[in-house]
Amino acid sequence: MSWIKWLIKKILGIVVFWQSVDHTVDAIKAWVKGFFHAPVIGVPLTTYYLERKYGKRVVTRHKVDNYLLALKECAERKVEIQSLPYVLSLDTLNKCNLTCPFCPTGIHKNDRKGSRITFEQAKQVIDAVKDHTLEVRFYNWGEPLLNKDIFQIIRYAHDAGLYTSINSNMSLDIKWDLAQKVVESKLDLLSVSLDGLTQETLVKYRRGAKIELIKKHIRAIRAERDKQHATLPVLEAAFIVFKHNEHELAELEQTAIQLGLDNAYPRLGYIYDKSFVPTHPDFQPIQAAFDKTCEFLYSELIVEPDGAVSPCCVNTDPRWDIGKVADLADLPKLWNSTDMLNMRRYFEADEPPAMEDVPEILCKYCGAVESRCHQRQTKPVLSPISPVFMASGKTFYDAEEQRKKWPGSV
Ligand SMILES: C[S@@+](CC[C@H](N)C(=O)[O-])C[C@H]1O[C@@H](n2cnc3c(N)ncnc32)[C@H](O)[C@@H]1O
Ligand code: SF4
Repeated sequence: MSWIKWLIKKILGIVVFWQSVDHTVDAIKAWVKGFFHAPVIGVPLTTYYLERKYGKRVVTRHKVDNYLLALKECAERKVEIQSLPYVLSLDTLNKCNLTCPFCPTGIHKNDRKGSRITFEQAKQVIDAVKDHTLEVRFYNWGEPLLNKDIFQIIRYAHDAGLYTSINSNMSLDIKWDLAQKVVESKLDLLSVSLDGLTQETLVKYRRGAKIELIKKHIRAIRAERDKQHATLPVLEAAFIVFKHNEHELAELEQTAIQLGLDNAYPRLGYIYDKSFVPTHPDFQPIQAAFDKTCEFLYSELIVEPDGAVSPCCVNTDPRWDIGKVADLADLPKLWNSTDMLNMRRYFEADEPPAMEDVPEILCKYCGAVESRCHQRQTKPVLSPISPVFMASGKTFYDAEEQRKKWPGSV
């Protein structure tokens, strides 16, 4: 009698829908203002959408309300806000085994001291955000699986009702049982950065990587997942399209199936060297991510491996930090601190403010918001460089320097 269950669910859905008229009106306003990426039509549909994305165990009414409020405040470009971030980026280690040429860690130009977060600090962060946060991303400027404590931290976040994900280069030469630890941690999503299907193409960007190691780990994790009759983590491969690997796109799906991945998809890259730009028109270098305001200022809390709270995931310089883990005890205050207010205020009006009136904030140097991007380049259009590098006048990428260091690679 599945249609009867279906009917009951629909009737209950309609009842809940009418009980949440306020949210519905607010949500429709947010939707009308341009948030087409989520089916934000009232609490029931939003709940359904979030449950599909994160699983029922993660989604609570409080989190849905907070999520809707955050979308609304973002759409209205509010400066002082009531909502709290619904995504946590908790980077537990900012060191890496590879030297990817467009990554500040890869080129050793990350100004933050190499560090690793302690389990105690990670617990403090998770406890501070677990009531309103849906998802934790355990990666930013390093290789997360080099941190053995990561699995204990992931499990803690899972048990706190959060969805967990990791992006990894997976080119790890480790002796301990990675596959078992990954599956037992109950990680939700493991995304492998696989930007080449052969050793030759892979190392053009993932310098130092070994394709056989990556394949070995993927197969082992898939085998362990099957052995434990588990469904998690979902295993996917993300393939940044460059000139040197675009001819492999056609084989991506087949390779994913052979490796036991659940999914594989091509993605755009931040590209700072013309010789890396693919010819395919759909995969040109990333430009602005947002139109009017920066959604990160409403959605994402970033905690660094040294225990700092950062205003943006691209920040690699402690100069721009907005606080410390201890400040999360009063998150509404930190989320509306002077720095955060100044950053949101910068995007408040349609017209950009006079630059001399803008206080020293990272957003001033950023190219991620179309309405405020001051660093568009002439054709061929490379990605806007990191605001941290813009602010300090640092050279991010020097093709000649790279060619000397890595002969034949560029
Ligand atoms: C800095 S990495 C840290 C995690 C891990 N070391 C890795 O590479 O997957 C975070 C994410 O940035 C992606 N990334 C690296 N270089 C990129 C580029 N040039 N453009 C876009 N994304 C990039 C990685 O593939 C990964 O998904
Ligand atoms: S593997 Fe990830 S963290 Fe390491 S250098 Fe490459 S992009 Fe950066």
